[in-house]
Amino acid sequence: MKKIIMQPSGKEIDCPSGETVLSVLEKQGYALPNNCRAGACGECKIKVLSGEFDQGFIMDMALSQEDREKGYGLMCMAKPTSDVLEIEFGTEDAQPKLFPPVENSWHIVTDKIQRTDKILELRLSPLGQPIRFWPGQYAMIGDEGSGHPLRPYSIANSPRPNGELSFLITNEPGGKTSPWIHEEVNIGDNIKINAPYGTFLGDPSVDTPILCLASGSGLAPILSLLNAYLSRGHRNPVTLLFSAKTKADLLDFGKLKYLESKYVNFKYKFTLTQESNNVGGLEGRIDKVLPQLLSDLSNHSVYIAGGVSFVDSCKKIVDKLGAKEELIHMEEYFAQQVQ
Ligand code: FES
Repeated sequence: MKKIIMQPSGKEIDCPSGETVLSVLEKQGYALPNNCRAGACGECKIKVLSGEFDQGFIMDMALSQEDREKGYGLMCMAKPTSDVLEIEFGTEDAQPKLFPPVENSWHIVTDKIQRTDKILELRLSPLGQPIRFWPGQYAMIGDEGSGHPLRPYSIANSPRPNGELSFLITNEPGGKTSPWIHEEVNIGDNIKINAPYGTFLGDPSVDTPILCLASGSGLAPILSLLNAYLSRGHRNPVTLLFSAKTKADLLDFGKLKYLESKYVNFKYKFTLTQESNNVGGLEGRIDKVLPQLLSDLSNHSVYIAGGVSFVDSCKKIVDKLGAKEELIHMEEYFAQQVQ
Protein backbone atom coordinates (compact mmCIF):
# COMPACT_ATOMS: atom_id res chain seq x y z
CA MET A 1 0.00 0.00 0.00
CA LYS A 2 1.37 3.45 -0.96
CA LYS A 3 0.55 6.74 0.74
CA ILE A 4 -0.51 10.07 -0.72
CA ILE A 5 0.12 13.15 1.40
CA MET A 6 -1.83 16.30 0.53
CA GLN A 7 -0.20 19.66 1.20
CA PRO A 8 -0.71 22.15 2.84
CA SER A 9 -2.93 20.05 5.14
CA GLY A 10 -0.51 17.14 5.57
CA LYS A 11 -3.50 14.76 5.40
CA GLU A 12 -2.55 11.18 4.44
CA ILE A 13 -4.57 8.82 2.23
CA ASP A 14 -3.82 5.16 1.50
CA CYS A 15 -3.36 4.30 -2.16
CA PRO A 16 -3.66 0.62 -3.13
CA SER A 17 -1.10 -0.28 -5.79
CA GLY A 18 -2.34 0.14 -9.34
CA GLU A 19 -4.86 2.88 -8.44
CA THR A 20 -4.60 6.36 -9.88
CA VAL A 21 -4.25 9.38 -7.61
CA LEU A 22 -7.54 10.75 -8.99
CA SER A 23 -9.59 7.67 -8.15
CA VAL A 24 -8.12 7.45 -4.64
CA LEU A 25 -8.91 11.13 -3.98
CA GLU A 26 -12.44 10.70 -5.33
CA LYS A 27 -13.10 7.68 -3.15
CA GLN A 28 -12.35 9.91 -0.16
CA GLY A 29 -14.72 12.60 -1.44
CA TYR A 30 -12.13 15.08 -2.73
CA ALA A 31 -13.03 17.21 -5.73
CA LEU A 32 -10.06 17.18 -8.07
CA PRO A 33 -11.23 18.71 -11.39
CA ASN A 34 -11.22 16.18 -14.21
CA ASN A 35 -12.80 15.83 -17.58
CA CYS A 36 -11.51 13.06 -19.85
CA ARG A 37 -9.96 10.65 -17.30
CA ALA A 38 -7.61 9.64 -20.08
CA GLY A 39 -4.65 12.05 -20.06
CA ALA A 40 -6.06 14.21 -22.84
CA CYS A 41 -7.56 17.38 -21.34
CA GLY A 42 -5.09 18.52 -18.68
CA GLU A 43 -7.86 19.34 -16.18
CA CYS A 44 -6.45 17.10 -13.43
CA LYS A 45 -2.97 18.65 -13.47
CA ILE A 46 -1.40 19.09 -10.05
CA LYS A 47 2.07 19.60 -8.65
CA VAL A 48 3.92 16.65 -7.15
CA LEU A 49 6.16 17.88 -4.34
CA SER A 50 8.04 14.65 -3.68
CA GLY A 51 7.99 10.96 -4.54
CA GLU A 52 7.77 9.05 -7.81
CA PHE A 53 4.84 8.13 -10.01
CA ASP A 54 4.13 6.35 -13.25
CA GLN A 55 2.48 8.93 -15.51
CA GLY A 56 1.19 6.37 -18.01
CA PHE A 57 0.37 7.37 -21.58
CA ILE A 58 -0.77 11.00 -21.82
CA MET A 59 -1.07 13.50 -24.64
CA ASP A 60 1.62 16.17 -25.03
CA MET A 61 -0.96 18.95 -25.35
CA ALA A 62 -2.45 17.97 -21.97
CA LEU A 63 0.83 18.48 -20.07
CA SER A 64 3.57 20.65 -21.54
CA GLN A 65 7.24 19.80 -21.31
CA GLU A 66 7.72 22.85 -19.13
CA ASP A 67 5.02 21.65 -16.68
CA ARG A 68 6.62 18.17 -16.55
CA GLU A 69 9.97 19.75 -15.69
CA LYS A 70 8.34 21.75 -12.91
CA GLY A 71 6.98 18.52 -11.40
CA TYR A 72 3.37 18.64 -12.53
CA GLY A 73 1.49 15.45 -13.36
CA LEU A 74 -1.94 14.41 -14.63
CA MET A 75 -3.58 12.63 -11.74
CA CYS A 76 -6.19 10.72 -13.78
CA MET A 77 -3.36 8.54 -15.11
CA ALA A 78 -0.68 8.92 -12.40
CA LYS A 79 0.00 5.88 -10.20
CA PRO A 80 2.41 6.27 -7.27
CA THR A 81 5.50 4.05 -7.49
CA SER A 82 7.29 5.32 -4.35
CA ASP A 83 5.96 4.53 -0.86
CA VAL A 84 4.93 8.15 -0.38
CA LEU A 85 3.73 10.70 -2.95
CA GLU A 86 3.36 14.23 -1.69
CA ILE A 87 1.07 16.46 -3.74
CA GLU A 88 -0.05 20.08 -3.63
CA PHE A 89 -3.80 19.71 -3.30
CA GLY A 90 -6.67 20.83 -1.11
CA THR A 91 -7.12 23.42 1.57
CA GLU A 92 -5.51 23.80 5.01
CA ASP A 93 -8.32 21.80 6.63
CA ALA A 94 -8.60 19.26 3.73
CA GLN A 95 -12.35 18.85 4.06
CA PRO A 96 -13.83 16.48 1.45
CA LYS A 97 -16.80 17.93 -0.49
CA LEU A 98 -18.13 15.16 -2.71
CA PHE A 99 -20.01 11.92 -2.20
CA PRO A 100 -17.57 9.02 -2.63
CA PRO A 101 -18.39 7.13 -5.85
CA VAL A 102 -20.10 3.75 -5.66
CA GLU A 103 -18.84 1.05 -8.03
CA ASN A 104 -20.91 -1.69 -9.67
CA SER A 105 -24.27 -0.33 -8.61
CA TRP A 106 -27.02 -2.35 -10.30
CA HIS A 107 -29.73 -0.38 -12.06
CA ILE A 108 -32.65 -1.44 -14.22
CA VAL A 109 -33.31 0.27 -17.54
CA THR A 110 -36.81 1.71 -17.17
CA ASP A 111 -36.97 3.66 -20.43
CA LYS A 112 -35.15 4.44 -23.66
CA ILE A 113 -36.55 7.39 -25.57
CA GLN A 114 -35.14 8.54 -28.90
CA ARG A 115 -34.83 12.32 -28.49
CA THR A 116 -33.17 13.22 -31.80
CA ASP A 117 -31.66 11.23 -34.68
CA LYS A 118 -28.49 10.63 -32.71
CA ILE A 119 -29.41 11.19 -29.07
CA LEU A 120 -31.50 9.00 -26.81
CA GLU A 121 -32.55 9.42 -23.23
CA LEU A 122 -31.73 6.42 -21.03
CA ARG A 123 -33.59 6.16 -17.72
CA LEU A 124 -32.35 3.97 -14.90
CA SER A 125 -33.74 3.07 -11.48
CA PRO A 126 -31.56 1.66 -8.71
CA LEU A 127 -32.00 -1.92 -7.55
CA GLY A 128 -30.17 -1.09 -4.31
CA GLN A 129 -29.41 2.16 -2.49
CA PRO A 130 -29.89 5.32 -4.59
CA ILE A 131 -26.63 6.96 -5.60
CA ARG A 132 -26.03 10.34 -4.01
CA PHE A 133 -24.60 13.00 -6.32
CA TRP A 134 -24.38 16.73 -6.92
CA PRO A 135 -26.17 18.23 -9.94
CA GLY A 136 -23.72 18.39 -12.86
CA GLN A 137 -21.85 15.16 -12.04
CA TYR A 138 -21.54 12.10 -14.27
CA ALA A 139 -21.66 8.30 -14.11
CA MET A 140 -19.49 5.69 -15.84
CA ILE A 141 -21.60 3.31 -17.93
CA GLY A 142 -20.40 0.27 -19.91
CA ASP A 143 -19.90 -3.46 -19.73
CA GLU A 144 -16.20 -4.19 -19.86
CA GLY A 145 -16.77 -7.95 -19.83
CA SER A 146 -18.49 -7.78 -23.21
CA GLY A 147 -16.10 -5.27 -24.79
CA HIS A 148 -17.98 -2.05 -24.02
CA PRO A 149 -15.59 0.11 -21.98
CA LEU A 150 -16.88 2.33 -19.19
CA ARG A 151 -17.52 5.85 -20.52
CA PRO A 152 -18.58 9.00 -18.67
CA TYR A 153 -22.16 10.22 -19.20
CA SER A 154 -23.55 13.25 -17.40
CA ILE A 155 -26.62 12.76 -15.27
CA ALA A 156 -29.43 14.83 -16.81
CA ASN A 157 -31.68 15.17 -13.76
CA SER A 158 -31.14 16.65 -10.32
CA PRO A 159 -31.18 14.15 -7.40
CA ARG A 160 -34.53 12.45 -6.75
CA PRO A 161 -35.51 10.57 -3.60
CA ASN A 162 -36.18 7.36 -5.58
CA GLY A 163 -32.69 7.47 -7.09
CA GLU A 164 -33.92 7.59 -10.69
CA LEU A 165 -31.23 8.74 -13.15
CA SER A 166 -31.54 9.91 -16.72
CA PHE A 167 -28.82 10.36 -19.35
CA LEU A 168 -28.67 11.86 -22.85
CA ILE A 169 -26.51 9.56 -24.94
CA THR A 170 -25.16 10.48 -28.38
CA ASN A 171 -24.60 7.55 -30.73
CA GLU A 172 -20.97 8.00 -31.80
CA PRO A 173 -20.31 6.11 -35.03
CA GLY A 174 -17.35 3.76 -34.56
CA GLY A 175 -17.61 3.98 -30.75
CA LYS A 176 -17.77 0.95 -28.52
CA THR A 177 -20.14 1.95 -25.74
CA SER A 178 -22.72 4.38 -27.11
CA PRO A 179 -23.78 2.10 -30.03
CA TRP A 180 -24.15 -0.72 -27.47
CA ILE A 181 -26.46 1.48 -25.36
CA HIS A 182 -28.41 2.57 -28.44
CA GLU A 183 -28.73 -0.81 -30.11
CA GLU A 184 -28.27 -3.59 -27.56
CA VAL A 185 -29.32 -2.39 -24.12
CA ASN A 186 -33.05 -2.97 -23.70
CA ILE A 187 -35.75 -1.70 -21.40
CA GLY A 188 -35.90 -4.13 -18.46
CA ASP A 189 -32.18 -5.03 -18.60
CA ASN A 190 -30.04 -4.77 -15.48
CA ILE A 191 -26.82 -2.82 -15.94
CA LYS A 192 -24.03 -1.78 -13.59
CA ILE A 193 -22.88 1.81 -13.25
CA ASN A 194 -20.16 3.57 -11.25
CA ALA A 195 -21.03 7.06 -9.93
CA PRO A 196 -20.80 9.90 -9.15
CA TYR A 197 -17.76 11.62 -10.63
CA GLY A 198 -16.81 15.09 -11.82
CA THR A 199 -16.58 18.63 -10.56
CA PHE A 200 -18.90 20.51 -12.92
CA LEU A 201 -20.92 21.60 -9.92
CA GLY A 202 -23.31 24.40 -9.19
CA ASP A 203 -22.76 26.53 -6.14
CA PRO A 204 -26.17 26.73 -4.42
CA SER A 205 -25.13 29.81 -2.47
CA VAL A 206 -23.99 31.82 -5.50
CA ASP A 207 -25.67 35.21 -5.69
CA THR A 208 -25.13 36.09 -9.34
CA PRO A 209 -27.11 35.80 -12.58
CA ILE A 210 -26.43 32.48 -14.30
CA LEU A 211 -25.74 31.84 -17.98
CA CYS A 212 -25.69 28.28 -19.35
CA LEU A 213 -24.39 27.46 -22.85
CA ALA A 214 -24.88 23.98 -24.25
CA SER A 215 -24.98 21.98 -27.46
CA GLY A 216 -25.97 18.37 -28.14
CA SER A 217 -25.91 16.06 -25.14
CA GLY A 218 -23.99 18.80 -23.28
CA LEU A 219 -27.52 19.78 -22.31
CA ALA A 220 -27.55 16.88 -19.80
CA PRO A 221 -25.45 18.36 -16.96
CA ILE A 222 -26.97 21.78 -17.66
CA LEU A 223 -30.50 20.38 -17.18
CA SER A 224 -29.42 18.85 -13.89
CA LEU A 225 -27.97 22.18 -12.69
CA LEU A 226 -30.91 24.23 -13.97
CA ASN A 227 -33.46 22.05 -12.22
CA ALA A 228 -31.51 22.30 -9.00
CA TYR A 229 -31.06 26.09 -9.18
CA LEU A 230 -34.66 26.82 -10.16
CA SER A 231 -36.36 24.40 -7.78
CA ARG A 232 -34.28 25.69 -4.87
CA GLY A 233 -35.54 29.21 -5.52
CA HIS A 234 -32.47 30.87 -7.07
CA ARG A 235 -33.64 34.48 -7.45
CA ASN A 236 -31.27 35.97 -10.00
CA PRO A 237 -31.89 35.70 -13.74
CA VAL A 238 -30.99 32.30 -15.24
CA THR A 239 -30.48 32.09 -19.03
CA LEU A 240 -29.92 28.99 -21.13
CA LEU A 241 -28.66 29.43 -24.68
CA PHE A 242 -28.78 26.10 -26.54
CA SER A 243 -27.08 25.68 -29.89
CA ALA A 244 -28.50 23.17 -32.40
CA LYS A 245 -27.83 22.51 -36.06
CA THR A 246 -31.50 22.23 -37.05
CA LYS A 247 -34.84 22.40 -35.30
CA ALA A 248 -34.94 18.59 -35.23
CA ASP A 249 -31.94 18.82 -32.87
CA LEU A 250 -33.72 21.02 -30.32
CA LEU A 251 -33.42 18.60 -27.40
CA ASP A 252 -36.04 18.82 -24.66
CA PHE A 253 -37.70 21.80 -26.31
CA GLY A 254 -41.02 21.19 -24.52
CA LYS A 255 -39.43 20.64 -21.12
CA LEU A 256 -37.44 23.85 -21.41
CA LYS A 257 -40.47 25.86 -22.57
CA TYR A 258 -42.30 24.49 -19.53
CA LEU A 259 -39.51 25.62 -17.18
CA GLU A 260 -39.61 29.05 -18.85
CA SER A 261 -43.32 29.42 -18.11
CA LYS A 262 -42.99 28.11 -14.59
CA TYR A 263 -40.04 30.23 -13.42
CA VAL A 264 -40.21 33.94 -14.21
CA ASN A 265 -36.46 34.38 -13.79
CA PHE A 266 -35.62 31.65 -16.35
CA LYS A 267 -35.13 32.42 -20.04
CA TYR A 268 -34.70 29.66 -22.61
CA LYS A 269 -33.03 30.81 -25.84
CA PHE A 270 -31.88 28.68 -28.71
CA THR A 271 -30.04 29.21 -31.92
CA LEU A 272 -29.92 27.18 -35.13
CA THR A 273 -26.61 27.02 -36.97
CA GLN A 274 -27.54 25.12 -40.15
CA GLU A 275 -31.15 25.96 -40.84
CA SER A 276 -33.07 29.18 -41.08
CA ASN A 277 -35.09 29.69 -38.00
CA ASN A 278 -38.86 29.58 -38.13
CA VAL A 279 -39.43 28.37 -34.58
CA GLY A 280 -38.88 31.63 -32.80
CA GLY A 281 -35.21 31.39 -31.91
CA LEU A 282 -31.97 32.95 -33.08
CA GLU A 283 -29.71 32.08 -35.99
CA GLY A 284 -25.97 31.50 -36.06
CA ARG A 285 -23.20 30.29 -33.81
CA ILE A 286 -23.02 31.24 -30.16
CA ASP A 287 -20.16 33.67 -30.69
CA LYS A 288 -22.40 35.67 -33.00
CA VAL A 289 -25.67 35.55 -31.05
CA LEU A 290 -24.55 35.72 -27.42
CA PRO A 291 -23.39 39.38 -27.55
CA GLN A 292 -26.89 40.31 -28.82
CA LEU A 293 -28.45 38.71 -25.73
CA LEU A 294 -26.02 39.65 -22.98
CA SER A 295 -23.33 42.21 -23.60
CA ASP A 296 -21.68 42.19 -20.16
CA LEU A 297 -20.97 38.98 -18.25
CA SER A 298 -18.79 40.51 -15.58
CA ASN A 299 -21.14 39.47 -12.78
CA HIS A 300 -22.42 36.17 -14.25
CA SER A 301 -21.69 32.60 -13.29
CA VAL A 302 -21.21 30.78 -16.59
CA TYR A 303 -21.66 27.05 -17.26
CA ILE A 304 -20.57 25.65 -20.65
CA ALA A 305 -21.04 22.03 -21.75
CA GLY A 306 -20.62 20.29 -25.09
CA GLY A 307 -17.96 19.07 -27.52
CA VAL A 308 -14.41 20.41 -27.33
CA SER A 309 -14.65 22.95 -30.16
CA PHE A 310 -18.02 24.23 -28.91
CA VAL A 311 -16.66 24.74 -25.39
CA ASP A 312 -13.50 26.43 -26.74
CA SER A 313 -15.43 28.91 -28.86
CA CYS A 314 -17.88 29.67 -26.03
CA LYS A 315 -14.99 30.24 -23.65
CA LYS A 316 -13.47 32.77 -26.05
CA ILE A 317 -16.67 34.76 -26.37
CA VAL A 318 -17.52 34.76 -22.65
CA ASP A 319 -13.98 35.95 -21.95
CA LYS A 320 -14.54 38.77 -24.44
CA LEU A 321 -17.79 39.70 -22.71
CA GLY A 322 -15.98 40.09 -19.40
CA ALA A 323 -16.82 36.84 -17.57
CA LYS A 324 -14.58 36.26 -14.56
CA GLU A 325 -12.31 33.22 -14.76
CA GLU A 326 -13.32 31.91 -11.33
CA LEU A 327 -17.03 32.00 -12.28
CA ILE A 328 -16.63 30.04 -15.56
CA HIS A 329 -17.31 26.29 -15.33
CA MET A 330 -16.73 24.00 -18.31
CA GLU A 331 -17.54 20.38 -19.16
CA GLU A 332 -15.94 19.25 -22.43
CA TYR A 333 -16.92 16.02 -24.13
CA PHE A 334 -13.84 14.44 -25.66
CA ALA A 335 -14.25 11.97 -28.50
CA GLN A 336 -13.02 9.03 -26.43
CA GLN A 337 -15.29 10.13 -23.63
CA VAL A 338 -18.52 10.04 -25.53
CA GLN A 339 -18.14 6.80 -27.39
S1 FES B 1 -6.10 14.73 -18.36
FE1 FES B 1 -6.79 13.96 -16.48
S2 FES B 1 -8.90 14.28 -16.54
FE2 FES B 1 -8.24 14.85 -18.50
